[in-house]
Formats: sequence, structure tokens, C-alpha cells
Amino acid sequence: KKYVVGIVGATGAVGEEIVRVLEEVGFPLERIVPLASKNSIGKSIEVQGKEVAVLETTDEVFSEQGIEIAFFSAGGSVSERYAPSAAKSGALVIDNTSFFRLDKDVPLVVPEVNPQDIADFAKKNIIANPNCSTIQMVQALAPLHKAFGIERVDVSTYQAVSGAGKKGMEELVLQMQKFFAFELDSASPSVFPHRIALNVIPHIDVFMENDYTKEEMKMIKETHKIMHADFPISATCVRVPVLRSHSESITVRFSCEVSAKDAKDALKSAQNIVLIDEPQNGLYPMPTIATDTNETYVGRVRVDNFDKKILHFWCVADQIRVGAATNAVRIAQKWCEIARGK
Ligand code: A2P
Repeated sequence: KKYVVGIVGATGAVGEEIVRVLEEVGFPLERIVPLASKNSIGKSIEVQGKEVAVLETTDEVFSEQGIEIAFFSAGGSVSERYAPSAAKSGALVIDNTSFFRLDKDVPLVVPEVNPQDIADFAKKNIIANPNCSTIQMVQALAPLHKAFGIERVDVSTYQAVSGAGKKGMEELVLQMQKFFAFELDSASPSVFPHRIALNVIPHIDVFMENDYTKEEMKMIKETHKIMHADFPISATCVRVPVLRSHSESITVRFSCEVSAKDAKDALKSAQNIVLIDEPQNGLYPMPTIATDTNETYVGRVRVDNFDKKILHFWCVADQIRVGAATNAVRIAQKWCEIARGK
């Protein structure tokens, strides 16, 4: 069986990457239908060596084009507006935005962690793809939780500008160019709340009443939903001037004492996790290593100096791939297995 796959937001950073990942994994494609806003009519994108025209996203386009799987990565308001029409037309929607993530009738899935939840897709014909920072964190937490039982998590993120789409990446590059032209002071921010070049901003998405940001609250609520757990979590989400891989410093308290060796063994045997942990040789995960790959890298694994139930580690993954496109394609692959089994 081959599928007609629609990509809403095909001209965006994540949409473009979904096309690449579908091709790379040899996804059974009948054809790809690239969709975007009115502004993109007349544009085309390259799919399997051929130029394919971008169509406007409308309520009708999903049935008109016979789309069977629709990836959405054009922002929450576009998903809110068009995902229901796509789902109603019979397409499976895999939504990359936050709009449906906490809907109890929509499974929120990281295939390495809770593939079983995909089976609930039919309630709305929508499966949600979690927040990028959440995905890489739960991939590392799940094997540790299974082995030792997590009691509490504290995480600080170092998030790349790609999380804000192409516009975010362009803003960093432009500001760096201005820096080298001695014009950085004249670069006024538009995507980020402050200048991002040569800066670090502890503010992603909007602040909530509790003084946490929405991004921080997403990491908490989504982790609970994906892991079917309710252990305390606290997050501090920070934007850094890195192009496209997120890093995270994660501290976990377990219900028993842990050794770094046992933790590393648990991580090594986990799917799509790569352990790089030879600090004496200067080897640990970094955005330069993770970028353009489909793996989540973990290193700097060490036990706390004061409490042997506490472990600290460092986790890096490509935000556009692992944090969005690759996870979405892996959901589609698992869903196809289920659909074929019927
Ligand atoms: P377009 O290029 O036509 O504006 P990014 O996350 O990299 O900023 O990309 C956002 C994506 O969402 C783009 O593909 C963009 O298409 C798409 N998009 C934005 N607004 C709409 C809309 N109203 N309907 C459909 N697609 C949209």
C-alpha cells in the first residue's frame, strides 16, 4: 500500500524536512501534496527529484487530492482551522503544533516511548506530535524510568532558533551579519523578544500567571501525558544562538540509588539514543554532532555528589528532525503498521 501524503506548511522549516525524511526512510509514497498559504501559490518544491506545485490549504483540498495522511506544521491557528476538515475527509492528521496535544481524545506520541497510544487515533483521526524539547527529554527519561523509577525531574534547556521556524533562523543569521558589519546595535528583534545574536534569552513562548513560560508548562504537561506518569517536573527554557539543535541539562531523582554505569547501560539499549560519554577525551554530545541526524544524544552522565538517588546528564537532538519531522514520520510509520494489520 502506498499513501497520498499532504504536508501543510510544506514551505516551512519543518515541512521541508518532513519531505526529506519521508524520502530517506523510503516511506511508501503514492505522491506528496505540498500545501501552504495563499502566498505560496505558484511556488514549487522538489520531491523525489521532481518539482511539485504548492497548493493553497483549504477545507476541500484534502478530499479533492485524495490525501490519506496529512502532516500539519504551519502553526496552531492553521491546525485549528484546517485539521478538522482534513480529519473529516478521512485523512489521518499528524499535527506538529501544540493545538491538540492535551486534548484527551488525541494521542500524543513519541514512538520510542508510547507507541501503544497510536491505537487511539480514531477518536478524532488526529495524532499530536509533542513539543520539540519534550520529545528528546522523554526519549532519554523513558528507559531510566523503566529501570529505576523516576521521582522528580529538573531540566534547563538551551534551545536553537529553529524552534521559531525559518524566520527565527534568518533573524540569527541576519544579526550575526550585522555584527560583522559593526551594525549589531541597529538590529531590532522581531521574532525573539530580545536580540538573539551573542545573547541568551530565558523566555520562550509567553509567560503564564505562575511566572513559568508556556514552553516550560508544555514540557511538564506533555511529559506526564506521554509517560502516563505524574512525577514532579520543573523546567527552565532558554533560547540560545544555535541554529537547529536543542541541548538540555537534565537532573533526575529516582526512587532508588543509581550508578552511572547502570544508567548508561539503560540508555545505550534504548532505541534511537546514542551515548557519547568520554569526558576525559573531550567527547560529549553537542549541536554540531546532532544536527541533521535522527538520533538523540546523551552524555555527561554522572551521579550527584551529595545524593546517590540523583543523576545528572546532558541531552542533545536536532530540533527540526527529532523534535519535529522525524518524530512525525515515525508516528506515520507506526500508524501504517497498525492500518496494515487491520
Ligand atoms: P507560506 O510559506 O505560504 O507562508 P516556518 O515554521 O518555517 O515559519 O513555516 C511556516 C509554514 O506555515 C510555511 O510553510 C507557511 O506557508 C505555512 N503557513 C503559514 N500560514 C498559513 C496558512 N494560513 N495556511 C497554510 N499554511 C500556512
